Amino acid sequence: MVLVGIAAKLYEAMGIQRWLPMIPNSEPMSKSRHDHMDRGYISPGEPSVLDENYISWLKEHPSAISSFQRMINASKGKQIVVFLDYDGTLSPIVCDPDRAFMSDQMRAAVREVSKHFPTAIISGRSREKVYSFVKLNEVYYSGSHGMDTMGPARENKSYDDKYQYKTIDEEGNELIVFQPAKDFLPALQKMLVEMTEKTKNIQGVVIEDNRFCLSVHYRHVKDEDYEKLEEEVESVLENYPEFHMTRGKKVMEVRPSIEWNKGHALEYLLDNLGFDNVLPIYIGDDRTDEDAFKVLRERGEGFPIVVSSKPRDTMAFHSLHDPSEVLSFLIRLGRWGFKNAYPIQA
Ligand SMILES: *[C@@H]1O[C@H](CO)[C@@H](O)[C@H](O)[C@H]1NC(C)=O
Ligand SMILES: *[C@@H]1O[C@H](CO)[C@@H](O)[C@H](O)[C@H]1NC(C)=O
Ligand SMILES: [Mg+2]
Repeated sequence: MVLVGIAAKLYEAMGIQRWLPMIPNSEPMSKSRHDHMDRGYISPGEPSVLDENYISWLKEHPSAISSFQRMINASKGKQIVVFLDYDGTLSPIVCDPDRAFMSDQMRAAVREVSKHFPTAIISGRSREKVYSFVKLNEVYYSGSHGMDTMGPARENKSYDDKYQYKTIDEEGNELIVFQPAKDFLPALQKMLVEMTEKTKNIQGVVIEDNRFCLSVHYRHVKDEDYEKLEEEVESVLENYPEFHMTRGKKVMEVRPSIEWNKGHALEYLLDNLGFDNVLPIYIGDDRTDEDAFKVLRERGEGFPIVVSSKPRDTMAFHSLHDPSEVLSFLIRLGRWGFKNAYPIQA
């Protein structure tokens, strides 16, 4: 691992970081699992890390790594575009939401992918926060569960609308910022203040301001305090009928009640990318990613991939076990793009 990190820095310093994914060592992890799965058995002598439920679930949602060649075959004549969730997909789920860093290897893999295929990261976090973790200028970002999207600007398309505005990035490219929940900002700021006040005596609560949604993290809240926390959050919410609460992994999220989710953000980005014949690949681990999986199913386009180490109900076709498998998949995709796809302009 250390060696790979040093090699990465060295290669980067030498300006040939695009070769990085070809270093054999940089392919991580449970490779043997795939070898076994590909052959359809687990050898009896080895400790089995997979329970039977997972194995049968995997038959319905085959590994995106095992299915890689099939996906690539399906992309013939189509423009591959890549959509990625952040937490739990590119970074491990960690206790402190401010420390959900992605590895340098993952960053290099995403960068390589984005050189060959338009790539966007769609997260529940604020757009700025995701960017501060990812730090890649080559990708598009959509924050607040898709309610804050910065995407490409299509030529001659009118963006004259109170919810979207044009901006220019450091390289002079025109970008569009689209914020369909803009009208809810003042109320969200008021709620943040009220919620912080009402929960200040409950130990372990972290309220994250994700701009168009508030995330109340309770991973560090004692079980016996949970009910009180939920009551307090709901009591604030009562005075804001235009908002509702959703639940994620050890988090309650307060969101504007508008018909806009990650699926809509995906469609918005696809529309603005402006390709006639696309093959979208969407990788995510959240319940909120299911909205995007559904969109791909309904369009009959592309590959929704769920990241899960446990069997679960999902609209995704394929699966990846954890972020380290996401890394393997992205490395493979970047490597294929390097050999076969025309580089897109940065
Ligand atoms: C992909 O396409 C190649 C060439 O057409 C074919 O030989 C191969 O069997 C295909 N692989 C899969 C997994 O579909
Ligand atoms: C955009 O508008 C210009 C000027 O009206 C025109 O020359 C150009 O072909 C248009 N481009 C597209 C993609 O429609
Ligand atoms: Mg996630």
